[in-house]
Amino acid sequence: MKKQSMTKSNSTKPAAVQKESENEKNFTGNITASSKKGKGFLRSLFAAGEEKRTIHDIFIELIKDTYNAEEQIIDALPEMAEAADNEELQDAFYNHLEETERQVKRLDKIFNRLQIDKNDMETCEAMEGLIEEGQDIIANFKEGPVRDSALIIGAQKIEHYEIAAYGSLRTLAEVMGLYQIADLLDTTLEEEEMTDIMLTEIAEDINDDALYYAERSEDEEEEDEGDEEDEEQDRQYESSTRY
Ligand SMILES: [Fe+2]
Ligand SMILES: [Fe+2]
Repeated sequence: MKKQSMTKSNSTKPAAVQKESENEKNFTGNITASSKKGKGFLRSLFAAGEEKRTIHDIFIELIKDTYNAEEQIIDALPEMAEAADNEELQDAFYNHLEETERQVKRLDKIFNRLQIDKNDMETCEAMEGLIEEGQDIIANFKEGPVRDSALIIGAQKIEHYEIAAYGSLRTLAEVMGLYQIADLLDTTLEEEEMTDIMLTEIAEDINDDALYYAERSEDEEEEDEGDEEDEEQDRQYESSTRY
């Protein structure tokens, strides 16, 4: 009787959606091992027996890793934008910050739908390393086109990490028959890819500026050295004519 009434209420949904909600049920009770060993986004699974690991577990661990990575990016982007000398690059970082905040909301939707627990989220060590690289660039380069050029490299490494993560998540979602979730992930994937393309375009101008800046700096150094030599010769001449 209970089964019949469930079938009746579900029958108003389109067939694809009905099947998808069935597929989402595969996540219920899909709890990963709590003891951790090793490194990387799948470390929660290493302690679990091989036979207990499923593709659903991998999806859960990867989406948690990606969520944490996005949170780290939200913290890092204002500093990267502040450090950028080029206005276009600065705008790109600020715009991507807003986009990233929307991406986290999209992930929240997926977490809610699949009832994934956000409380036991681990730090994404890979993103931590990439962000540290960016911070080192900021700390060790003075403001200007050369630092901007290095910042773009750091930012593109981050985008490529995200592209790999969202591409894999979307593919796994499709395989598991979670098509609406795959669409959400695909929207973010496209944003990350567009950001990467945009950074490549901005880099073309900045790299030219950085090259010009470096050549000019060398010329200026040579000029300074030349000036110092002239001044020294003047001093020697003056002292020789004083007697
Ligand atoms: Fe992102
Ligand atoms: Fe991104």
